[in-house]
Amino acid sequence: MSNYWEERFAQEGMIWGTEPSSSAYAAFEHFKNAGAAAVLVPGAGYGRQTKVFSGSFATYGIEISPAALKLAAEWDPDAVFIAGSALETQLKTPVDAVYCYDVLHLFLDAERRRLIEVCLGQVRSGGLLYFTGFSDQDPMNGQGPLREQGTYEYKAGKYAHFFSDRDLRAHFAGTDILETGSFTELFHSVQDGSHSYSLRYILARKK
Ligand SMILES: C[S@@+](CC[C@H](N)C(=O)[O-])C[C@H]1O[C@@H](n2cnc3c(N)ncnc32)[C@H](O)[C@@H]1O
Repeated sequence: MSNYWEERFAQEGMIWGTEPSSSAYAAFEHFKNAGAAAVLVPGAGYGRQTKVFSGSFATYGIEISPAALKLAAEWDPDAVFIAGSALETQLKTPVDAVYCYDVLHLFLDAERRRLIEVCLGQVRSGGLLYFTGFSDQDPMNGQGPLREQGTYEYKAGKYAHFFSDRDLRAHFAGTDILETGSFTELFHSVQDGSHSYSLRYILARKK
């Protein structure tokens, strides 16, 4: 999967433009109200979401694609980007909050569990987690061969898991779930034109 992203970032640059998701602003407010000082952004891409946080919090982005990291260093010089896998622990000191946009749905079940576990390991007790992922209401749900329950291989080697509210909550069992919801995201990309996606989000607190 990392090759897929590396090739896309190398060819298309800032694939989704510079505008962050509205969910990043929502997460920012929750993190600020909770008194957060440090935020982790796993699968940070080229930094369009980290930029929402890096002006106010110590912000760490983990990203596996060197092409994305190169763009990120230029776009968001205030964030610290770590080259590596979000499925492995990268921070020595726990942060106060994690914002993870559209990364969780890229993985099969075992790796989704691992991503959440590793994020929980890098956030302090009482810290917040704000994750987004594809909704089961999205029209792409069901496209391509079924690989696992709710997960389809919609391009060769590329998985998409589609979350119902219940499924998303089940992934975060063991945390205090504060809020879940749905929203529509509209992307404009040079390569693919305009697309809207149905997403779900979850706000949870580490016990
Ligand atoms: C759908 S993109 C979202 C990018 C970014 N969150 C944003 O909103 O612009 C998924 C990102 O996850 C990264 N990624 C995929 N697997 C990863 C892994 N194991 N560790 C770190 N990043 C990963 C990809 O390179 C890509 O940047």
